[in-house]
Amino acid sequence: MKAISMGPAKAAQPPADGERSANFSLLRLSALRKMRVVEAPVPLLELAGVSKRFDPPAGTGSLVILEEISLEVRAGESVAVVGPSGSGKSTLLHLIGGLDRPSAGKVLLEGRDLGQLSEVQLAFVRNRLLGFVFQFHYLLPQCTVLENVLVPTLAGVGAESPGPNNPTRCEESPEERAIRLLKRLGLGERLDHRPGELSGGERQRVAVARALINQPRLLLADEPTGALDQASARELGRLLAELNREERVTLIVVTHSMELAAGMGRVFTLSGGRLQPSPAAPGTPPPTS
Ligand SMILES: Nc1ncnc2c1ncn2[C@@H]1O[C@H](COP(=O)(O)OP(=O)(O)O)[C@@H](O)[C@H]1O
Ligand SMILES: [Mg+2]
Repeated sequence: MKAISMGPAKAAQPPADGERSANFSLLRLSALRKMRVVEAPVPLLELAGVSKRFDPPAGTGSLVILEEISLEVRAGESVAVVGPSGSGKSTLLHLIGGLDRPSAGKVLLEGRDLGQLSEVQLAFVRNRLLGFVFQFHYLLPQCTVLENVLVPTLAGVGAESPGPNNPTRCEESPEERAIRLLKRLGLGERLDHRPGELSGGERQRVAVARALINQPRLLLADEPTGALDQASARELGRLLAELNREERVTLIVVTHSMELAAGMGRVFTLSGGRLQPSPAAPGTPPPTS
């Protein structure tokens, strides 16, 4: 967001009569020239008093899952959300990802209120600004690893354009980028394999490459290691933390794993509908204003 601030010439007063109007116009022009464009620090993500309730069939009362959650996440941060099963972690991630809408409050991505966007605009935001990794990989079994990673580029936005995160890599074609990411994730020898020929950890790494192919600003991961053995989970956690730095992608991870959470810059606990900084949090939250 850009805030306009006026220079000293804003003290110019309206003319008292017609004769002074020419002078006033000149003053106004000079004032405009002295306007300074100030970059206001807009968080990449802001949750402002977000609540979510589900209204089951009449008579059974509504189910309050999230209550007035406020959070700011700056570009480049990594954040973990932990909490008991059923506490609303996936619900929260769905709201952040524009997959669902809050009952109250706002979700702002780069200052845009997702609640004000049409479904088409939301689809654009999801494809262009967000990457998703889920507990299960949802790879297409009939496609190769490389083809799976390229699927999000078929929507016609993203990897062909410079991208907000990596303007220096704008010369990369989607295929070059997919191969680079897959090699980075240790899958350089697996480009032509089908998902059924891979281990669980390898499949999940393909899903991470697919989530990053359009150079998202924000990567949302919901229990990404939940279906993996300990060694594969540890490897994926390490890769996610490294990609957060290397690809300059902001990361929000929902997890049961305290080991994965400990690798993130900030850790929050979701419980009773409230989001609290976790005592185990390794970092200190940045100021909220
Ligand atoms: N569409 C829905 N309708 C009704 N209840 C839902 C819906 N989605 C989630 N819930 C309920 O919200 C609660 C939180 O779910 P969820 O966000 O999946 O928790 P978590 O990811 O922390 O395990 C659960 O009690 C779940 O049953
Ligand atoms: Mg969940």
